[in-house]
Amino acid sequence: MSAEYQVNGNIAVITLNNPPVNGLGHSTRTAIVNGMKQALNDDAVKAIVITGAGKAFSGGADIKEFNSPKASAEPSLHTVINVVEGSTKPVVAAIHTVCMGGGLELALGCNYRVAAKGAQIALPEVKLGILPGAGGTQRLPRVLGLEMALNMIVSGTPVPSEKLARTAIFNEVVEADVLTAALAFAAKVADVRPLPRVRDIKIDYPNYEAYLQFSRNTVRAMAGPFPAPLKCVEAVAAAVTKKFDDGIKFERELFVDLVQTTESKALRHAFFGERAASKLPDVPEDTPTRPIKSVAVIGAGTMGGGIAMNFANAGIPVQILEMKQEALEKGLATIRKNYENTLKKGKLTQEKFEQRVALITGTLAYEDIAQADIVIEAVFEDMGVKEQVFKKLDEVMKPGAILASNTSTLDVDKIADFTKRPEDVIGTHFFSPANVMKLLEIVRGKKTAKDVLATVLGLSKKIKKTGVVSGVCDGFIGNRMIEQYSRQAGFLLEEGCTPEQVDKAVEKLGFAMGPFRMGDLAGNDIGWYIRKRRYVEKPQITYSKTADLLCEMGRYGQKTGAGWYDYKPGDRKAYPSAVVNDMIIKHSADLSVERRKISDQEIVERLIFALVNEAAYILEEGIATRASDIDMVYLTGYGFPLHTGGPMFYADTVGLTNVVMSMEKYAKGRHGDAWKPAPLLAKLAAEGKTFN
Ligand code: 3HC
Ligand code: NAI
Repeated sequence: MSAEYQVNGNIAVITLNNPPVNGLGHSTRTAIVNGMKQALNDDAVKAIVITGAGKAFSGGADIKEFNSPKASAEPSLHTVINVVEGSTKPVVAAIHTVCMGGGLELALGCNYRVAAKGAQIALPEVKLGILPGAGGTQRLPRVLGLEMALNMIVSGTPVPSEKLARTAIFNEVVEADVLTAALAFAAKVADVRPLPRVRDIKIDYPNYEAYLQFSRNTVRAMAGPFPAPLKCVEAVAAAVTKKFDDGIKFERELFVDLVQTTESKALRHAFFGERAASKLPDVPEDTPTRPIKSVAVIGAGTMGGGIAMNFANAGIPVQILEMKQEALEKGLATIRKNYENTLKKGKLTQEKFEQRVALITGTLAYEDIAQADIVIEAVFEDMGVKEQVFKKLDEVMKPGAILASNTSTLDVDKIADFTKRPEDVIGTHFFSPANVMKLLEIVRGKKTAKDVLATVLGLSKKIKKTGVVSGVCDGFIGNRMIEQYSRQAGFLLEEGCTPEQVDKAVEKLGFAMGPFRMGDLAGNDIGWYIRKRRYVEKPQITYSKTADLLCEMGRYGQKTGAGWYDYKPGDRKAYPSAVVNDMIIKHSADLSVERRKISDQEIVERLIFALVNEAAYILEEGIATRASDIDMVYLTGYGFPLHTGGPMFYADTVGLTNVVMSMEKYAKGRHGDAWKPAPLLAKLAAEGKTFN
């Protein structure tokens, strides 16, 4: 049973018990209905309290059931709420913590609601690409008023119960034990008739048409490719324009449509993908972790400063170690300036500003950081420098300290072997700007201990990152894949595209930036440096020379005022460059390549399928644990459009057979060798399967 039934005096208590968050799956719904029947059939019972065990009243409908017949199996959530709302005895919801989605819809079907202060109240369905489908859009406006309800439904943002205390949503918001309060409340109202029902409340908003039109316009402008936000407005509109039962029917129709959309499937995939990423099959959830109460960062440069801020933001003291006083002061000043900017924007209180700045201190002496629980190295990307630093860390750091490297390309196993404690060494690959970007690639060395991994996974949650574990390989998950994407982007230039055309094609799909605008932002010299190394180490890999020619012209990107595009001083807007286009056309001629018109579809396919094919190797080699981990890397670190669910989910949506067929077509073109399907991709396509 996933709800328990008890009678306390003359009050029945139905306690939802479906860990971890009392999702309203089929068995829980059945148990609620059974509990209601039992209570209604027992003459001794005068009132009913519904509450939740554990860490939630309810997190809502069971999202895991969405794609299964169980989702609509009776009793549906509608039926449950109808049974509750149709009760002849008063029903009181006792909400101690999280009350979201279908959980809130259930509570709104009760006659009364008592909440603990601090309980998180939300209809977050829009974040999953759907809308509240069990009466939420019809009942919430009746208790909160049109505007507040619409804001909550369109944003999905949780609101603490005390902020809603003066509205009709709660009869009481209490500091004391909520179940005790709800039992007392139930006893008080046991004989009160008629029973109040939310559905009977009239919405009083005379000028609703103007407000709804304003909302439609605002929401349309914000929703991007997602259909759900606007549908939320339409459903809420029905609460004022239609009779209650018609509004419910209309909401249901919209809900059923939205659940089927790729956008919703992609958002649900990302929801579970984020949570799955923190789990490793061979590192059980009860693996003991090492306490992290202090952090040291080596290097106060671009990455070191941003990394340090993450920990200060989470209230953990950080020491930054530099080689020279001047570099240290510069780094600390940059951090301070970043916080000052946030303060000026009103996103930080003065008190928090001071706390955070005070949590970050500097030193030049290794002895000062010896007691830190974890040290993260962010010095120059040079194996010799890393060797020096790790040998020193091995010498000074206390036993049990975690030694992490922020290297973006170097071999973490080699770095670990510079120490006598390789089991304590791990890669923590932050993305720039490190205090902003959500992704943290956690690089698991051959000898990294399981408790070190478990600790760093936990730590990444604490600093609000999406931690994804990668094995050791050149570029780890993200950069190893991006290389194939960049190679295709270069070949497309040689064959007939302009940088602008390539960028626009992927930006139309939803990428924040195409490869060339991204190159100009990050600095084209970084890729040039890496390619020069590759020309020596892996001469068999071919690249378009256009990017090298660009760098030879000194066009490194925004930082030099010119890259793939032209820039005007003080203006980040990218202007197509005649010089660059001439260079590209000349290069095609030098290669005797006849330039042709290339469709946006070909551009998108070549860029994305190149990512997907490399990802299939990564998955097969065990560098990534699961396909959704790769999607999380791309969604949180590379601006891959969220509504597509990431490269692997995108490929699944297109169909792997179609992906392979397109690859076969491109294999007949120039650099056809790049299009050999990875064995895993070929196998899944042949079997009609998907990555996820
Ligand atoms: N259904 C199924 N599983 C759920 C769930 C749900 N509604 N909500 C959370 N879970 C699972 C997570 O997948 C995770 O599982 P795992 O341990 O196997 O990985 C576990 O619960 C814990 O989740 P979190 O790590 O997110 O736990 P937190 O304590 O940080 O947060 C929460 C709890 C605030 C409830 C958060 O999980 C959350 O926001 N959940 C989604 C809530 C939501 O979107 N509800 C609407 C559902 S759709 C709906 O109700 C439709 C209806 O209108 C008809
Ligand atoms: P940076 O050049 O901005 O900063 C490096 C800092 O380390 C400098 O302040 C330097 O004085 C200091 N330093 C060098 N040797 C030192 C030593 N022996 N002891 C103490 N301090 C020392 O470099 P950046 O960009 O911050 O990169 C650092 C690391 O992060 C590199 O491994 C890089 O590959 C990686 N990385 C960089 C990203 C980026 O976008 N810049 C993204 C992800 C990883």
